Order: sequence, then structure tokens, then C-alpha cells
Amino acid sequence: MKTILLVNVSPRVQGNSEVITQILAEDLKDQQVVVFTMREKDCRYCKACGACQGTAGQSCVQDDDITKLLPVIEDCDAIVVATPIYNQQVSSLAKLFIERFYPWFDFDKKGMSNTAKYGKKAALVCSFWGSPKDRVKTYADWTVSGFCQMGAEQFQTLIFNQIPNAGDVKNRPDYVEQVHQLACWLKE
Ligand SMILES: Cc1cc2nc3c(=O)[nH]c(=O)nc-3n(C[C@H](O)[C@H](O)[C@H](O)COP(=O)(O)O)c2cc1C
Repeated sequence: MKTILLVNVSPRVQGNSEVITQILAEDLKDQQVVVFTMREKDCRYCKACGACQGTAGQSCVQDDDITKLLPVIEDCDAIVVATPIYNQQVSSLAKLFIERFYPWFDFDKKGMSNTAKYGKKAALVCSFWGSPKDRVKTYADWTVSGFCQMGAEQFQTLIFNQIPNAGDVKNRPDYVEQVHQLACWLKE
């Protein structure tokens, strides 16, 4: 059984990222799944205090829901972040989440990561309207490659354009099929 963390970094209720997260959670219900909906959580930005640096494990002095999630991020087999594209980039919630990977930062180690568990899978699922698909793909591939920080070594991106309204992804069977395929890859 795999432990899979699904992170929804859209502020929109029943938005496309939420629908995608729900489809994945349903497909993965025979696995150990943790769903983290950022808009419902107390999530603070990295203050760059440096207290986490130079420690063997992953600690953070902030008392919020991301600090509580750090052991899950460390121990999971896979992580999926479902994000809207805002101003050609991942959402600010996504950036806030990714910057909280700093407790893993160790410049001298593989992937610049002090993880005890390499080989994780990481996927970034991008929902958006009309931005150029190929540009978003290049950007998403680069962004998810940075998840090496928490021990990811296998990466996927799904690029879903032309879905501007909340829940539009449900009307795109081709996109829904790609989400099902992603679930299969996460279970492998
Ligand atoms: C602040 C803001 C900025 C946006 N910027 C872009 C953009 O740069 N390119 C684009 O194609 N769509 C953009 N959109 C549209 C969203 O990406 C689109 O509504 C997407 O479906 C949102 O995903 P969600 O339903 O998971 O929140 C933007 C929407 C908002 C609210």
C-alpha cells in the first residue's frame, strides 16, 4: 500500500483542482491517502528564520498545519499538487507550500535534500484558461522538478487548458482519463 498526499492549492470551492483531487482520492481509496486542502488550513509562509537548517530531520518552529504535515511529506510515496494557473504561474498557495520544503534543504546531498526517503513520485496538475499550453508545460515541468527537495525522483505534469470555470474539468473526458492514468502511475 502506498501513502499518497494530495494537495489542493486552489482557493476556489469546487474548482477544477478540487474536482481533480476528488477523482484521485476516489481512484486511490485502496491506498493510504491524505488530502490537504490549503484554503481550509492554517498555512503560514516560510519566514526564512533558518531554524530548520543544519538539523538531521525536518523541523519547523512555526506552529501551523504545514508543520504538522512535514512528517507526512517525508514518509509519503507520492505527492500531487493540483493548482490553478494564475498570472502564468502556480497559485500563491502553491508557492507558499513549496517554500515550506526548506527543512529538507541540504546543499551537499542528492537532490539537495536531507530526506531519509528518496524515490518518491511527484505530480503537478495545472488547470487554466487560455495561457499557451506549451509554455505552461515547460514551466510546470521545471516547477515539479524542484520537488527533489522532498525526495521526489519521478515526475509528471498534467496540463489542462480551456477550463476557466469551476468544475469545467468534469466536462472534459480526455482530462478525466489523464487523471485516472495518473492514479494508476501513483499506485505502481
Ligand atoms: C487571479 C487569477 C489569475 C489567473 N491567471 C490566469 C492565467 O494567467 N492564465 C490562464 O490561462 N488562466 C488564468 N486564470 C484562470 C484560472 O486558471 C482558471 O479559472 C482555472 O480553472 C482555475 O482553477 P481552479 O478551478 O482549480 O481554481 C486566472 C484566474 C484568476 C482568479
